[in-house]
Amino acid sequence: MTTSIRIVGGNPLKGSIRIRGAKNAALPLMTAALLTDETLTLTNVPCLTDIQTMAELLAQHGVYINHTPGSYTYELKAQTITNTTAPYDLVSKMRASILVLGPLLARCGQAKVSLPGGCAIGTRPVDIHLNGLKQLGAHIELSEGYIHASAPNGLVGANVTMPLVSVTATENLMMAATLAKGETRLINAAREPEVVDLANCLIAMGARITGAGTDSIIIEGVSHLHKATHDVLPDRIETGTYAMAAIITDGDLELTHTSLSLIPSITSVLQQAGADIQATTNGVRVKASLSPIIGVDVMTEPYPGFATDLQAQIMAIMTICQGASMITETIFENRFMHVPELCRMGANITVHNSSALVRGVPYLSGAQVMATDLRASVCLVLAGLAARGETTISRIYHLDRGYEKLEEKLCNCGASIERIAA
Ligand code: UD1
Repeated sequence: MTTSIRIVGGNPLKGSIRIRGAKNAALPLMTAALLTDETLTLTNVPCLTDIQTMAELLAQHGVYINHTPGSYTYELKAQTITNTTAPYDLVSKMRASILVLGPLLARCGQAKVSLPGGCAIGTRPVDIHLNGLKQLGAHIELSEGYIHASAPNGLVGANVTMPLVSVTATENLMMAATLAKGETRLINAAREPEVVDLANCLIAMGARITGAGTDSIIIEGVSHLHKATHDVLPDRIETGTYAMAAIITDGDLELTHTSLSLIPSITSVLQQAGADIQATTNGVRVKASLSPIIGVDVMTEPYPGFATDLQAQIMAIMTICQGASMITETIFENRFMHVPELCRMGANITVHNSSALVRGVPYLSGAQVMATDLRASVCLVLAGLAARGETTISRIYHLDRGYEKLEEKLCNCGASIERIAA
């Protein structure tokens, strides 16, 4: 059965929302289980379809997974890796599947991983992952849509300079290097908090890593890793999304189990726009102190810059700003698919190459719209919450990849939102 989301806009959101562990931290952390024959226990793993996809992928590699439905704890034990192939049907569902490549190669000396292919938000190649692994001594061939990687005598530490900042390439190479012989230096590494979280878990497993969180990460290879327990860090994209939900609805939300320190540039943009954002003992409180908010220019950048995964959501807010906002996307080349949908709701947006000029309008109007990717979907939810009248969003399966209990969390704060059979 296909489902849609129906929202009747106009209710200010008030109350408290619990932020869960970060999807983009949990996915690489789960693949780290492949690096050891002992149990890796992860707590605060969000309940999302991407996590289920990763669990399926790991299970078919031979990882024993102990997880009770509804719980946030996963025990992952890769005592024996029975299969080093990551098949097309799972990799094509979720690009982050490429994160098994480094660990499988490091642990087993071989891996065959389907090429992820294109995706809705751009071409997203994997050349940085592959060139980095080659520099660690892997032999890589591409044939029949698969990456065939081998390192029969093990990987060897090297200096790897990445031409672009890539989050998953940094994570893949960092994991591969934990079991390589000698020292690896990752130069121009991603500084995202999820990279630091992965490094902390690997260190708890016995890896020797310094510099995570800077653009130069040094990994001294060890012969084996061991069991560990790790709590997944809070989801900064979920935090930023609900902060923006508070602002766009002229509401007042406390976001718990998260931290202002994870969203420095998001906070700065939202404060410039006139929002009141304060740290609380257990999270963040966000109020829209100015209504309408003021147009602010935003450019997406690698961390600590403004996250591309919040670009669609900030655009939703800016549609009803005073003045105008120029939103420039520098990470992905095709990440404005939400623009025509926002325009169907009355937004005034013109796209010039990688920039969108958003001229504020007095209000959005409910409409039938279609979700295209994960963050575009939630941008339409935000727009629907603020719009006059009823909005119906179709193709919402993307939302379940990245937002746990979205309707429930919003309903509890006064939103009129429900999932309906389409
Ligand atoms: C990760 C996040 C994703 C986020 C993105 C940017 C996960 C699971 N996903 O994706 O939510 O939107 O970071 O913050 O953590 N590139 C290459 N060659 C490569 C790899 C990347 O050219 O081998 C390019 C990409 O096309 C893109 C840029 O580098 O233009 C950054 O992408 P990257 O950081 O790799 O994104 P992901 O790690 O896939």
